Amino acid sequence: MPELTPFHLDLTFMTPLSATRADRLVSAMADDLTGTVADVGCGWAELLLRVLAAAPDARGIGIDLDAEAIEHGRTLAAARGLADRAMLVAGDVRDELPERAEAAICIGASQIWGPPVEEAQPLAYAAALGALRSLVPVGGQVLYGDGIWSAAPTAAAAAPLAGRLDEFVTLPELVELAVAAGFQPMQVHEATVDEWDEFESGFTAAYTRWLATHSADHSDATEVRERAARQRAAYFSGYRGVLGMAYLVLVAV
Ligand SMILES: C[S@@+](CC[C@H](N)C(=O)[O-])C[C@H]1O[C@@H](n2cnc3c(N)ncnc32)[C@H](O)[C@@H]1O
Repeated sequence: MPELTPFHLDLTFMTPLSATRADRLVSAMADDLTGTVADVGCGWAELLLRVLAAAPDARGIGIDLDAEAIEHGRTLAAARGLADRAMLVAGDVRDELPERAEAAICIGASQIWGPPVEEAQPLAYAAALGALRSLVPVGGQVLYGDGIWSAAPTAAAAAPLAGRLDEFVTLPELVELAVAAGFQPMQVHEATVDEWDEFESGFTAAYTRWLATHSADHSDATEVRERAARQRAAYFSGYRGVLGMAYLVLVAV
């Protein structure tokens, strides 16, 4: 396996999310926030840390399977003076999630409550939204983000994903799933293609970095070139402009 640089070197968030949209989501979440905010599948917890910085009376727990991402999150928390309010746990949300939290963040992590990604099933929106609704009290806010179809899915768009047209729903369908789970929407956002282009560039930058720093006949070079080419084809000839990303600020009712 070639050793690639970690995603956090080229990405601020492990999701297509501009600084401007992040500011709007963070200020909606942080408004009057006290108690504990749980970030499930937090990655390196950039969003959670921004919410905690904006909500001085709140505490956070962030959980992710990726121990390296959690370690980087701890470094960020310490550098920002947030270590005493941010508990970052390397582990499975299904084992580590507290029973209650005053607010929650769940970005790109609905699969926690669904079948394993390898089974290529439709995304488990309803299960995720139901679990998040059980976590927070009436009035509690949840920042929920996940993939949607931004345009009618094509076979070329779906092929490099789960290979099925029903993997995702549309934005209006997602909002109704959130309402059915016991939320009302406070804000509804959809990532732009520009946010996606920036995300994909950061996502694939590790291949470019590797190829720029290793000789062309290195034993891993073919594999890195092929992985980079597969990802380029998947995006530019596949799901660009079709796979979208929704961000919903939801209030439990
Ligand atoms: C698309 S990334 C999003 C990361 C982060 N929320 C962000 O927006 O930057 C999804 C994350 O969910 C994590 N994840 C998936 N299943 C998990 C589980 N059962 N328990 C904890 N983390 C999980 C993955 O490790 C990954 O970091």
